Amino acid sequence: MKILVVGGGGREHAIIRKLKENPTVETIYALPGNGGIAADAVCVPIGAKDIEGMVQFACKEKIDYAVVAPDDPLALGAVDALNAEGIPCFGPDKKAAVIESSKVFSKDLMKKYGIPTAAYEVFTAADDALAYVKTCKIPVVIKADGLALGKGVIIAMSREEAVSAVESMMLQHVFGDSGSRVVIEEYLEGPEVSVLSFTDGKTLVPMVSSMDHKRALDGDKGLNTGGMGTIAPNPFYTKEVAAECMEKIFLPTIRAMAAEGRPFKGCLYFGLMLTKEGPKVIEYNCRFGDPETQVVLPLLKTDLLTIMQAVTNETLSETQVEFSDGACCCVVMASNGYPGNYEKGFPITIPAQVQEQVYVAGAALKDGCLVTNGGRVLGVTAAADTLREAVDAAYANVEQIHFDGAMYRHDIGHRALEV
Ligand code: AMP
Ligand code: GLY
Repeated sequence: MKILVVGGGGREHAIIRKLKENPTVETIYALPGNGGIAADAVCVPIGAKDIEGMVQFACKEKIDYAVVAPDDPLALGAVDALNAEGIPCFGPDKKAAVIESSKVFSKDLMKKYGIPTAAYEVFTAADDALAYVKTCKIPVVIKADGLALGKGVIIAMSREEAVSAVESMMLQHVFGDSGSRVVIEEYLEGPEVSVLSFTDGKTLVPMVSSMDHKRALDGDKGLNTGGMGTIAPNPFYTKEVAAECMEKIFLPTIRAMAAEGRPFKGCLYFGLMLTKEGPKVIEYNCRFGDPETQVVLPLLKTDLLTIMQAVTNETLSETQVEFSDGACCCVVMASNGYPGNYEKGFPITIPAQVQEQVYVAGAALKDGCLVTNGGRVLGVTAAADTLREAVDAAYANVEQIHFDGAMYRHDIGHRALEV
């Protein structure tokens, strides 16, 4: 089979490695992939948002199956466009991807179907939003409606911060059109859990749970990032919590999407907060998480392509999905300065014995050498029987890798290890 994977980060690298385990897979094309992915797939310089280019390429190469991984092409209708040419895909269509691309949609969906989430108000006029934050309970959370590269969420710990967040989103348009509507919601507290799931619109199979570490610096300090590391499974996500989530959140969500005429097929990601009142949804993503995928897929025992095809064919209920009992840790090695400005082009050395445990995100090939080319450069992972061993092994791998200006957190897994 010829497979196309849209995207070019660490998540896509993890998906590609797993797809390669299927013996029927002959070639995997990555659009655009990256310098590290090039070791596992044929990288084609077509951007993930170039829907027309992607469809043309898929038709020309007679692609048998496509996996659309990032949010942007999903929101732009990449799956609809590929399906229109008869190419089966993994990923939601545009109508279903709105569960991530519009926070107003997802909040209204949860309210309508009684799915637990933070209380909220939606504003389209800056004056109204400003009046609201002048009297509301603080801390408060302000979210741009549309996609904003994961940066459209501001946790305002003071009233001044809340006012300036509204001003920057609605008056200065720092997130462009994404901020012309904002959701202002109640601040929740509790451990966070990421649960990725496979769903064909009728059946939902949760994957092993995970925990992201969003802040740039040790001790959960510094700026919010796309994610500096992950561990799986998440020890806060007990069997009891899982059962409650299935009953009150996961199944109601896919039923709600079906009832709205937007059946969701693909990977539905639940960002949850375990509050004193029970689990609540912080956000939905219409795709695999990054860097959650880098710890979840190494623990998947069942063939990934078989599961993906079952999702596409709506036969997930007949498909077995099995995860190992072990644990996995991913430490992101980033460029010094990330998530702010950073330099690129530094050579990366990865010893051969750890290469299979490294997922490459922001790197390019220059004269045959891998060089840094992004903020998050590598996801260095290790799987083991216990979380302690996985964390230690991931850091032992990090020690063996070098590039100038490498920056990483030293405490990935610290919260989970204290449980
Ligand atoms: P998001 O981009 O929606 O994942 O939000 C980024 C981060 O902001 C989340 O991982 C949470 O840590 C935090 N967050 C979002 N919404 C809330 C909320 N209502 N209360 C507290 N923290 C939140
Ligand atoms: N790691 C969070 C996300 O992929 O959105």
